[in-house]
Amino acid sequence: MAKAPEPSTIDWANLGFNYMDLPYRFLAHYSDGKWDDGELTEDATLHISEGSTGLHYGQADFEGLKAYRTKNGEINLFRPDRNAARMHKSCERLLMPAFPEDKFIAAVKSVVKANADYVPPYGTGGTLYLRPLMIGVGGNIGVHPAQEYIFTVFAMPVGAYYKGGVTPTNFTTSYYDRAAPHGTGQSKVGGNYGGSLLPGDEAHKAGYSDVIYLDPATHKKIEEAGSANFFGVTKDNEFVTPKSDSILPSITKYSLLYLAEHNLGMKPVQGDVFIDDLDRFTEAGAMGTAAVIAPIGGIEYHDKLHVFYSETEVGPVTQKLYDTLTGIQFGDVEAPEGWIQKVPLD
Ligand SMILES: Cc1ncc(COP(=O)(O)O)c(C=O)c1O
Repeated sequence: MAKAPEPSTIDWANLGFNYMDLPYRFLAHYSDGKWDDGELTEDATLHISEGSTGLHYGQADFEGLKAYRTKNGEINLFRPDRNAARMHKSCERLLMPAFPEDKFIAAVKSVVKANADYVPPYGTGGTLYLRPLMIGVGGNIGVHPAQEYIFTVFAMPVGAYYKGGVTPTNFTTSYYDRAAPHGTGQSKVGGNYGGSLLPGDEAHKAGYSDVIYLDPATHKKIEEAGSANFFGVTKDNEFVTPKSDSILPSITKYSLLYLAEHNLGMKPVQGDVFIDDLDRFTEAGAMGTAAVIAPIGGIEYHDKLHVFYSETEVGPVTQKLYDTLTGIQFGDVEAPEGWIQKVPLD
C-alpha cells in the first residue's frame, strides 16, 4: 500500500471516503491483564497471530469520528468522549478490556496532532476521519475471549459527503435483518457490518443509496439505515427517531435530538416509527458521522415508493439541522457545553 501523497498535492475539495496510509497511527497492546501506554508508530501493518479471535470469532469493535479545521486554523473534535464511552460499552459486550476513556481521547488527539497537515483546510468541506479499532489477538482456537488485544487509532482525510449541496436520495427496505432482538445491534462490532454487505449491495444494485432495516421481531417498525439512524419531522414540529435496543446509539442522533429542541424549538420524540405510517412525516433523513444528515427522498416498501418532502430537494427543517450541526463542528456556531474539544497543536 502506497504512502499518502504529500499534503501540498492533495485536492482537498474532491476527496472521497478512501483509505490512506498517513505518517502516524497510535498502537497499544494488552497482555498479562493490562494495557501498555501505547505509542505513535509509522507502521501501518498489524503483525498478529493466525489464531487471533478478531479474525475468527468477530472479537473486534471500532469507532468513527472526525476532526474539523476551523476558520482560524484550529482543529476541533466533536464529542470524542461519547465515542470513548460507546467503545467501552462495545468492549463489555464482547468481553474485551476497554481502553481507558481518557486515554482513548488522548490517543485520538495525538494522532490528529501528528498528522495535522492532513486535516483538510476550512471551507473545503473535508475532515480528518479517525478510526479507533480494537481486536482480540494471540494464539487461540476455542471460542473464548482472547488473552491479548490491540488498540489502534488511524486516520485519513475524507471529502465532504455532499459536493453540490445537501441532496436527497431514496432508500429501500429489506428482507434481511441487521441485528437480532437481543443481539449486538447496539454495539459497534465488526460482525454487524459483515452481515450488512449483502443487503447493502442488493440495495445499491437496485438504485437505492442504502437499506432502511426494519425491526427484527415484527418487521413493522423502522430501525435504522446501514450506517446511520433514522429521523422524521412531523407536521406538529416533532423530531421523531426510533427507540430500539437493536440500533446503534448514534452520537449524531443524540446531538440532533438536543439541537432540534434547543436551537429549533421542536419537540424531540424517541418512539416507534411504523413503516406503514410514514404519512405523519413531512421530512425524513438518516443521520451519522459520515453524512451528518442524508435527507431521505423516499423509502421503497413492498414495491411502493413513499416520498417525504421531495426526491430532489432538501426540506427546510433538515437543512437547518444540517447547517446548525456542521456550523458547530467547524466552529462557526456556538456549541453546547463540552461538545467541542480542541486538539492542542504545540
Ligand atoms: C449502524 C450505524 N448506525 C448509526 C451510525 C451513526 O452513528 P454516529 O452518529 O455516532 O456516527 C453508525 C456510524 O457510526 C452506524 O454504523
